Amino acid sequence: MGIKAVNHVAIVVEDIESALAFWRDALGLPLARTERMDAEAVEVAFLPVGESEIELLEPTTPDSGVARFLEKRGPGIHHICIEVDDIAATMARLRAHGVTLINETPREGPGGRQYAFIHPRSAGGVLVELYQLPAE
Ligand code: CO
Repeated sequence: MGIKAVNHVAIVVEDIESALAFWRDALGLPLARTERMDAEAVEVAFLPVGESEIELLEPTTPDSGVARFLEKRGPGIHHICIEVDDIAATMARLRAHGVTLINETPREGPGGRQYAFIHPRSAGGVLVELYQLPAE
């Protein structure tokens, strides 16, 4: 089982367009693409930083998990994503360590990537996402 990289850091924003004034215009990160993920009720902007990415998440409905996070805690870091080469093996290892997972099995996202979330109560208050990218 291998840990590969920090794939992305996700940040909840009220409005992607206004957030780009800092991340793109002031800091100078390129905006690679935006994607609407209806399964998670978010609009996502991807800004590459070397091998990783900053992801800006804007809720698209008032009752999604991301919308509730924004309402409760305000804008800020939402989760970090660790890329692994075998997500099932990583989840089994975590379970063996008594870690609580939010997703019992990996979910499938755009482009065939598999993802799952670890509960923040098992990770020092940090929401951690796992990614396994499709083989190239
Ligand atoms: Co993510």
